[in-house]
Amino acid sequence: KNLAVFVSGGGSNFRSIHESILGGSIHGEIVVLVTNKPGCGGAEYARDNGIPVILFPKMKENLENLSANDLVTTLRRYKVDFILLAGFLKLIPVELVQAYPRSILNIHPSLLPAFGGKSYYGMKVHQAVIASGARYSGPTIHFVDEHYDTGRILAQRVVPVLTNDTAHELAARVLEKEHELYVEVATALCEERIIWREDGVPLIRNKE
Ligand code: GRF
Repeated sequence: KNLAVFVSGGGSNFRSIHESILGGSIHGEIVVLVTNKPGCGGAEYARDNGIPVILFPKMKENLENLSANDLVTTLRRYKVDFILLAGFLKLIPVELVQAYPRSILNIHPSLLPAFGGKSYYGMKVHQAVIASGARYSGPTIHFVDEHYDTGRILAQRVVPVLTNDTAHELAARVLEKEHELYVEVATALCEERIIWREDGVPLIRNKE
């Protein structure tokens, strides 16, 4: 399967997925990297690894930038099957959601539907989890709709919140699980092991 990965930051999830592809455990290829921050670590890693980088959304004075419809056309040109958001901080335009139904995934560093939405990003998520007194947190991978963090939940991992955790400590513990979970989900996605229950809930079928 052909994958597009969208990043805005360091891209550690992107790297771990790419490494699993190189190692042969994910049967797919990252054919394009989309970013709104051309200088971010994820974009740098893509360039170093010969993965084409596309800027989205539009930025002034850049000839390569794109509108939502151009982006859809470009992704089609790369024959993209699935889109993996990995720390992409912009809202996905409805044109893209409609062009790729049941094909766009996002990872969020809390157990959704708790601590999701536009105001929960980066360390804010972990600060809010700690402040709430919740004893558990962990990453969620969900399908993407036209809102922040509200699409159908596909997979989650539970991580304990320790008594004296700082947001950074909790973030690191969650991030480690994010890498495992995204690789597991990307593996299933490329092997067509995602199935949809009648009520619209997506599930991962185990390997036979
Ligand atoms: C992760 O915590 C992810 O859950 C969130 O953004 C962060 C991205 O980290 N959506 P990285 O760029 O993959 O290191």
